Amino acid sequence: MKEIKINFNKANLDLKEIFAYADKVKEINEKMEKFEGEGSAFLGWKDLPNNINPKDVQRIEDCAKKLHNDGVEVLVVIGIGGSYLGVRAGIDFVFGEYPGSEKKMEIIYVGESISSTSLVEKLKYVENKKFAINVISKSGTTLEPAIAFRLFKKMLEDKIGKNNAKDYIFATTDASKGLLIKLAEKEGYERFVIPDDVGGRFSVLTPVGLFPFACVGLNIKKIISGAKSANDIFGSSDLVSNLAYQYAVARYILHTKKKYPVEMIVSYETCHRFFLEWWKQLFAESEGKNEKGLLPHSAIFTTDLHSLGQFIQEGSKVLFETILTIKKPKYDLKMFELPQEENNDNLNYLAEKSIHEINNIAFDATIDAHSLVGRVPNIHISIEDYSEESFGTIVMFFERAVAISGYLLRINPFNQPGVEVYKTNMFKTLKKPI
Ligand code: PA5
Repeated sequence: MKEIKINFNKANLDLKEIFAYADKVKEINEKMEKFEGEGSAFLGWKDLPNNINPKDVQRIEDCAKKLHNDGVEVLVVIGIGGSYLGVRAGIDFVFGEYPGSEKKMEIIYVGESISSTSLVEKLKYVENKKFAINVISKSGTTLEPAIAFRLFKKMLEDKIGKNNAKDYIFATTDASKGLLIKLAEKEGYERFVIPDDVGGRFSVLTPVGLFPFACVGLNIKKIISGAKSANDIFGSSDLVSNLAYQYAVARYILHTKKKYPVEMIVSYETCHRFFLEWWKQLFAESEGKNEKGLLPHSAIFTTDLHSLGQFIQEGSKVLFETILTIKKPKYDLKMFELPQEENNDNLNYLAEKSIHEINNIAFDATIDAHSLVGRVPNIHISIEDYSEESFGTIVMFFERAVAISGYLLRINPFNQPGVEVYKTNMFKTLKKPI
């Protein structure tokens, strides 16, 4: 497994406080392993890396290869929430934020809002490009992706004809429920199944993530293998050796005993922005119920030190930070010395230091400033590198953590009843037929 380290030295927590929950965590985990407890019908995510059928992996890779061979330039991924964030998180985590790099095709995300401006911009963007569509919706009824799908499907059909278009449309949805599966069967689209027992925010290791990952050229077998070895370790009932569960307990103590209402997750890598968005959904939808739960917030440092830094340092003491750093950057470069007469930026003092080294020094300086001077507890999680295995590992780390954390709060971590309220109001006004 790619190594993950966690450090609570600056978290204003004693390891003894954490280990006092060893029996409680063991009890919760054992129940979970027996598929008992609230929400146990949605525990499929924890065995995904072990249960994935090699034939399904092969089919995903074959479909992606067909698109590469056909010269498809852009994959339009249509989805929202759990059917979008994990895809974007994984691609940016491994390949970085910019098109080009090693990506085998460009990817654009739609159906993640109802912004008319965004939709028109993206329709115009693909109009003259060779594009394919992956529409992702477990329920098959979510309005945002459904609107986008109708628009992009029409554009593709108008461009290459209905009969050809069906070879470039891929539907990732429930095996039998919802409108999307019926439409996909009727039109003859290639279909990928989201298992019944896996909720949206836990679905990144199903075809929801795996098909777009394969399309852009990520090695999906490596992602699965990273998640599998992480699951063996982070599924253990032994709190003393299980870092994911230690993290769950630490944030539980900071929230319920030390009364912090907000957890801010921070990364020093800009390409983690969507990983942090994925994390926010995972924790917000899992824990924010029965008027309980930490508010998950996120920031990229040092970027946001220039906007949020003042508040974190000296503002109200409402938050603790969980900091992610990468041990080995994907790329690095060194600062260089200029002749003294050209040292107009006065940066010669950095000569021979690498940029990653400077980023690490900023991290050390900030963690001390925030925790020691600003009295903001800091948990530090270190990830090995940018690889597919590391992505699979950190996904499983947080999925395991949120399950324990939710059960410690005595809520069902696997439902999201509150998401329906705005939809009911909206559909009433839109006069959606029942
Ligand atoms: O976690 C969740 O369940 C939600 O965020 C869903 O993923 C999101 O609402 C999209 O739902 P669907 O995949 O059914 O379109």
